[in-house]
Order: sequence, then C-alpha cells, then structure tokens
Amino acid sequence: MLVFAKIKSIQEYLKSLKKGTSIGFVPTMGALHKGHLSLIEQAKKENDVVVVSIFVNPTQFDKKEDLINYPKTIDQDLALLKKIKCDFVFTPTAKEIYSNNVKSQQFNFDGLEYQMEGKFREGHFDGVGTIVKRFFEIIAPTNAYFGEKDFQQLQIIRKMVQKTHLPIKVIGCAIYRETDGLAMSSRNSRLTKEHRKAAPFIYKILKQVKNKFGIKNALEITKWVENEFKKQPLLKLEYFEIANEETLQPIKNKDFKQNYRAFIAVFADKIRLIDNISL
Ligand code: PAJ
Repeated sequence: MLVFAKIKSIQEYLKSLKKGTSIGFVPTMGALHKGHLSLIEQAKKENDVVVVSIFVNPTQFDKKEDLINYPKTIDQDLALLKKIKCDFVFTPTAKEIYSNNVKSQQFNFDGLEYQMEGKFREGHFDGVGTIVKRFFEIIAPTNAYFGEKDFQQLQIIRKMVQKTHLPIKVIGCAIYRETDGLAMSSRNSRLTKEHRKAAPFIYKILKQVKNKFGIKNALEITKWVENEFKKQPLLKLEYFEIANEETLQPIKNKDFKQNYRAFIAVFADKIRLIDNISL
C-alpha cells in the first residue's frame, strides 16, 4: 500500500499506471469503520486499483466545534486499509488542497442543495462539492463510490458529475449497519453509553415508516414520527421527511412511477445522526 500526501506525487504515480487501468476511488474523512470498508471492498471488486482519500474537509463543516471534535484516527485507519489491501491512500493537508484560501466554490445543484441537510447545514454541500470535484480532478477515477447513508450527498455528486461532464461513474452503496440497526458513522464513537443505547430507535422508526407508507399518508406518518420522538428523552428529532429520490422534493401526492425515501436527522445530545430508508 502506498500513501501519498502530495497532489503531484499521487498524480505522477497514477499516470505511470498502464493505460486502461481502471481506478476506483473512495473519498472519506477517516475514522474508518465497516461502512467505509464495505465501499472499499466493492471498489476492489470492480476496479484494477483502488484509491482511498482521508481528508477532514474544513469547508463542509458549518460548525467549527464539529470540525474540531471530528474523530481523527489516522494510524488506525492506515492499518485497516493495509489489512484489506488497499492500493493507494491519499492523505493531503488542508494547505495542500486549499493553499491559503480555505473557501468553497458555489454550486448550483438544481435545488437538491436546498432540501433537508441543506436547510440545516449552511454551505455544507458547497463544501462537499468543492472537495469532491477537486479530488475527481486530481485522481481522475473511473468509478467513484459513495454511501447511501448520505443519500443527499450521493445525489448531489451525481448531479455535479452530470453537469461538469466528468467521465466518472458514480456508484451508490447500501447503508452498512450495526447489528442493532444503527447506521455506522464515524460520529457514533462520540456517543455516550446511554445515547448509544438509545440510537437504534432511529432505524426502528424508519422500518415502521416503511410499513406504514402506502397505508397512511405522509402527513400522518410525519406526525406519528414526531410523536414517537417526543417519548424519547435522549433523542431530539431535527427533521423527518419523505421525499422523491431523484428530486429530493418532499412528497405531495404519491406517484406510483416515482421512488421515495424517508430521511431523518436526530440529535443524541450534541451528536447529530442521519439515516434514511427506501420506501
Ligand atoms: P465520510 O463521512 O467519511 O464518508 C465517506 C463515505 O462513506 C461516504 O460516501 C459515506 O456515505 C460513506 N458511508 C459512511 N457511513 C456509511 C455506512 N454506514 N454505510 C455505507 N456507507 C457509509 O461523506 C464524507 O465522508 C465526506 O462528505 C466526503 C464525501 C469524503 C467529502 O469530504
């Protein structure tokens, strides 16, 4: 496994690969868990070589405190990546990526950016778009892997690739969960014991929403979810929404030709957890 911190050195190395070598790319912010590893395993199956980036991107954090407290476990991450035989790891510094101008580019994602996470995390998707576009230009992957855990992010990256005409295939990967249903996340390690115990409630509710969808309407389901969370002293619902998978617009009248998903964001004390389920 080769680890590169400099843009020039990884680019030179990737350019030296035999022509036609397919490159699978998995961008991450580190603190790797089995969810990340499932993306990497899929990339390994579908490409000649795999590049994983580890970079805690400052421009996508709307709260400074969240950036400071974001778990950083680089030695452990590199050991994990070596164990699963990842080929290349890219670990740039913020200076390498942004020079002295730590700023986002502004994007138009045709409205995807104003829904859900966009309403609660100002500038977040401009930050994500900026860094992913930069990585795409540096790595020039054949295929890029993103988790459905961050479904809105996945759709936004698809939109960016479509709009910029980059020759990259964006592949969405299923949500990897703990055995009790909690979606794996780097932030889970920051939960207190009590909050960790309470958190699987989120997926339990989503599964019930899936059962109710089609029997009850979206408004009734939303009211029910809000009520259920009121009974949970350790969890605070930030938003629950049933939305069209393509446009991410909230559902109005159910159209049987469209696919829908339920999306949720919950605070467990100061830790923000998101999840979703296809309906
Ligand atoms: P990060 O949160 O580290 O996630 C990296 C990738 O792993 C994302 O595509 C995310 O959706 C996926 N992922 C995380 N948990 C998952 C789970 N439980 N199951 C399946 N996939 C999961 O998302 C980011 O980093 C950043 O925004 C990034 C794209 C790297 C840009 O900075």
